[in-house]
Amino acid sequence: MKKIEAIIRPEKLTIVKFMLGEAGFYGLNATHVTGRGGQRGIVHTGRAGQTITVDMLPKMKLELVVKDSDVDTVVDIIVESARTGEIGDGKIFIHPIEDTIRVRTGERGDAAV
Ligand SMILES: Nc1ncnc2c1ncn2[C@@H]1O[C@H](COP(=O)(O)OP(=O)(O)OP(=O)(O)O)[C@@H](O)[C@H]1O
Ligand SMILES: [Mg+2]
Repeated sequence: MKKIEAIIRPEKLTIVKFMLGEAGFYGLNATHVTGRGGQRGIVHTGRAGQTITVDMLPKMKLELVVKDSDVDTVVDIIVESARTGEIGDGKIFIHPIEDTIRVRTGERGDAAV
């Protein structure tokens, strides 16, 4: 099992969730986060010509645990549905997961995912 942690644009959540659901992936968490990537934020120029740097930008963090054999499928779905081609499209981190337990039944491992 792996946890796929995807930082995406907030406006992409709906389409990413929809495309994951179409492929049979329903269980997930989404959290509003703020973060920065390689560009370290955005520089705006104010009316008086002053520069305003916005360091931390709003993003959505999507987390879902999947079977090892589903990792590539899920990553491809997220990349394809979250991409605009512009900077700030996000990033995906893959974490190893020790175990999963479904509380209702006590099932463990892949069967509980
Ligand atoms: N190394 C990192 N560690 C943790 N979170 C990160 C990291 N890089 C990016 N993020 C998170 O992902 C968000 C989007 O990052 P972003 O897409 O701007 O990455 P990037 O490396 O700058 O790529 P790009 O050049 O396409 O913008 C950031 O706002 C932050 O929340
Ligand atoms: Mg960036």
